[in-house]
Amino acid sequence: MSRGSGLIATCPEETKPALVLELEALGARNIAPAYRAVAFEASEGLLYELNLKLRTASRILRVVRDVPAASPEMLRSQVRRIHWNELFDTRHGFMVESQGDDADKGGLAPKQVITQVREGIREAFERVQGVAPAVDRTDPKVIVVAHLRRGRCTLSLDTSGKSLHKRGYRETGHPAPLKETLAAAILTMVGYDGTQAFMDPMCGSGTIAIEAAMIAIRKAPQIHRRKGEFNFEWLKDFDRELWRQTQDRVRAEKLEALPAPVVASDINEAYVSMARKSALDARVERYMTFNTGRFQDAEPPAATGLLVTNLPYGDRIGSSEGDIARLYEEVGDTLKKKFSGWQAAVLAAAASPYKVIGLKPLRTIPLTNGSIPCKLLLFELYSGTRRAARNVE
Ligand SMILES: C[S@@+](CC[C@H](N)C(=O)[O-])C[C@H]1O[C@@H](n2cnc3c(N)ncnc32)[C@H](O)[C@@H]1O
Repeated sequence: MSRGSGLIATCPEETKPALVLELEALGARNIAPAYRAVAFEASEGLLYELNLKLRTASRILRVVRDVPAASPEMLRSQVRRIHWNELFDTRHGFMVESQGDDADKGGLAPKQVITQVREGIREAFERVQGVAPAVDRTDPKVIVVAHLRRGRCTLSLDTSGKSLHKRGYRETGHPAPLKETLAAAILTMVGYDGTQAFMDPMCGSGTIAIEAAMIAIRKAPQIHRRKGEFNFEWLKDFDRELWRQTQDRVRAEKLEALPAPVVASDINEAYVSMARKSALDARVERYMTFNTGRFQDAEPPAATGLLVTNLPYGDRIGSSEGDIARLYEEVGDTLKKKFSGWQAAVLAAAASPYKVIGLKPLRTIPLTNGSIPCKLLLFELYSGTRRAARNVE
């Protein structure tokens, strides 16, 4: 496979702007946003680095070929022509994953795509080597992604393996944890770079604050993956020495201390313990400050900074509508009274009474948390006379 070939990083559609920003900052070339994905080009070394560093991508795919796929026979014969034996070894089990769907337009259904691609690959191997790799759906070392759209199929190899949102620090037990990639996307979209004081006063399991600490300390979110956990390690052109050098360089970029404080607190002591334990697993606990208490009683850790929080929704955290409205009003009052000079980004369910916060957002970004439609509200808490003019609706 040619070095510097076409790559695709996948992500939810709404957080694509964050992924584009990350790819630009890390030096990817020819960046082209697509549906729920961003296409780009990168050298082999940068591909390894991106798998370690991207905070908002789900996975990185390497495009093998785009082929016509108007019928099952056409797809199979196109797949058979590819020299799969140059891409991976028969010793490693593989599986095929189907994305996209032409079935409603009279085209191929996902199951047909999987069968034709899988058998086409096996036949290609058998023709050249007389033996085909086994299919492994439990722990595949090689994942071939077949993306069908308008009668064409883009065949790619997944270079990431386990989804990149799985950082390995998540504790179970909080009823409403944010996905790690969503927390990182929120921080990226609001321009957090770790140089300003940071606070999540309703931290729950701590996802936003942990992601903030990792950004601030310049820690690559996947640097602790074990040998063989990235799928690019199982491809034929894997360059072990380049991978070792990339890991060493990325490790060395980590700072010794945080440039500014990162504070996580919650009203529920058990959640604070959970956040602390997750931070420990993420190896950022010693840089962070944890407190238990109500947001209404919290003090900002600096004169200016960024507060990012995910408000309780009511449906998942189990409070009545009246309680939630009262809490949101108090959140607004606390921001106005105590956080002047700060920026705040508040994630609230679109169906929640977020307007009672009583602050006019500078920007509102629609996001989905799990299946819940949400709004990310960005506030700038001006001090002095400007506050009245800008903040109160
Ligand atoms: C939606 S959850 C946050 C989830 C978090 N982003 C995560 O990834 O786990 C909201 C949190 O607000 C906390 N909370 C509710 N009322 C609070 C208050 N008055 N002050 C501080 N925390 C509060 C709850 O205990 C809950 O953990």
